[in-house]
Amino acid sequence: MKPELLIIGDITPRMAAAFDASFTCHTYSEIADMDSFISGPGQAIEAIATTGHDGVPAPLLTGLARLKVISCYGVGYDAIDVDEAARRGILVTHTPNVLNNEVATTAVMLLMACYRELIVNHNYILAGDWVAKGNAPLSRTIGGMSVGILGYGRIGQTIARKLEAFECKISYHARSERTDSPHQYYADLLDMAREVQALIVITPGGAATQHLVNQPILEALGAEGCVVNVARGSVVDQDALVAALKNGTLGYAGLDVFEKEPQVPEALFDMPNVVLTPHVGSATVETRQAMGDLTVDNLVHYFEKGSVLTPVPECQHLIK
Ligand code: 8YV
Repeated sequence: MKPELLIIGDITPRMAAAFDASFTCHTYSEIADMDSFISGPGQAIEAIATTGHDGVPAPLLTGLARLKVISCYGVGYDAIDVDEAARRGILVTHTPNVLNNEVATTAVMLLMACYRELIVNHNYILAGDWVAKGNAPLSRTIGGMSVGILGYGRIGQTIARKLEAFECKISYHARSERTDSPHQYYADLLDMAREVQALIVITPGGAATQHLVNQPILEALGAEGCVVNVARGSVVDQDALVAALKNGTLGYAGLDVFEKEPQVPEALFDMPNVVLTPHVGSATVETRQAMGDLTVDNLVHYFEKGSVLTPVPECQHLIK
């Protein structure tokens, strides 16, 4: 008998085929009535596969009596109540490391797109301005720029390494200092924001980091400053960000994530100093394949060997 799996959110055809081979699959979007699912077929569910965006709705976490393992297709798992899962002895896994390079590249791409005016220059040609007005206005370099990284985990450190190629002066703010790091540590985010030109946000989402980047931080970055967010929309006070960009307190923003995805404030649409992408930090064929494989492998491993490959730290103690 194959274990029963509930799939929440979008997965790739490759993941769907792999799940079908090892599990009896149920799809969350096809559940007509949540209560009758939980009291009926839900009682056989032993595993959930979900995305970092969709998480696991609370009634499923508490109501699926045989649920043993949740595999998250993404590194960020703030949409899953992992403390409650751990209390119930449910193992949660995620997909660290395999996306470090891709998300870091997205951060660098957004930073460069802002300062080198990529969208403005593209539109300059389309509008016929090159012909009509001559050369486009000069943009700014990121070479040698002072960049602060908020969050210095695996992806934050990968961003730092990539920026070294541009001779950037790199600082970071995190809960604790890394003694093995060549970069400057700031215990206080505001102090760092006063010193750097651009701030790259790559800290986990959730209550602990809600609106860490607020109006005083944006003000400290200043009129030539930039915020790049490839973490979670919740880390940046979006209203304060829109206001700062509008009134020129902040120079630029490169945003891959937003507070209420997929909604993006329309106020950002016409701003020439803003570059927007729809939460695609890790969304390449190659990286999503690696993430999808790890999402599947965690579940297969659990049912074959009783263990998982990449548990979230909060569930580490549940591994036998
Ligand atoms: C993924 C993410 O994009 O890996 C992450 O933390 O940003 C996620 O939102 C998503 O889980 C892929 O479906």
